[in-house]
Amino acid sequence: MNEAYWTHKYLEKNTGWDIGTASKPILQYLDQISHKDIKILIPGAGNAYEAKFAFESGFKNVNILDFSPIPLQNFKRSCPSFPEENIHCMDFFEHKGNYDLILEQTFFCALPPIERPSYVEKMFQLLKPGGKLVGVLFSRNFDHPGPPFGGSKQEYETYFTKYFDKIEMNDCYNSIPPRLGFELFIKIQKFK
Ligand SMILES: C[S@@+](CC[C@H](N)C(=O)[O-])C[C@H]1O[C@@H](n2cnc3c(N)ncnc32)[C@H](O)[C@@H]1O
Repeated sequence: MNEAYWTHKYLEKNTGWDIGTASKPILQYLDQISHKDIKILIPGAGNAYEAKFAFESGFKNVNILDFSPIPLQNFKRSCPSFPEENIHCMDFFEHKGNYDLILEQTFFCALPPIERPSYVEKMFQLLKPGGKLVGVLFSRNFDHPGPPFGGSKQEYETYFTKYFDKIEMNDCYNSIPPRLGFELFIKIQKFK
């Protein structure tokens, strides 16, 4: 599942994961943040509807990252005033930075499960002390080969507890209808 795999999916318009708008759990979470100067990263951002919403709501330090150039080009067209230097076309695992908030929306489930420990370690490296990883993870398994790759709260906790000491994973009440009952809303904080 390299860059060519995902780019092919975008070119074929075979993008069943793309909900066409900002994810409601994430936009409701952003809505209650008053400090608009926080540094945000959205990895595996795809068309990055959440970034457009955040940027247009006054968050001026939003960064998006994806290794496929196609959705990033779409994003630039939809949000032309977004700073070019905050658009990172690269592999997540190669990215360097330090963020107050990282948003998760169908990126974790796109990675082969063998990469989950590396994902968690990388998130830990990218967060500032006190920083948070927030978003949604599937709370179900799928009966077809992934992506998406599902999982459970118990499984996810085994990865996150190695690095993080404040882990909240609750059934998500405001998922989009097809995912309602199948998502966890996660808030995972690095120690201060
Ligand atoms: C399932 S899509 C989700 C896109 C977006 N978050 C959404 O919900 O529409 C997964 C995205 O992660 C990107 N991706 C997968 N592995 C990546 C990696 N190692 N580094 C950067 N981007 C990656 C893919 O190109 C794809 O855009």
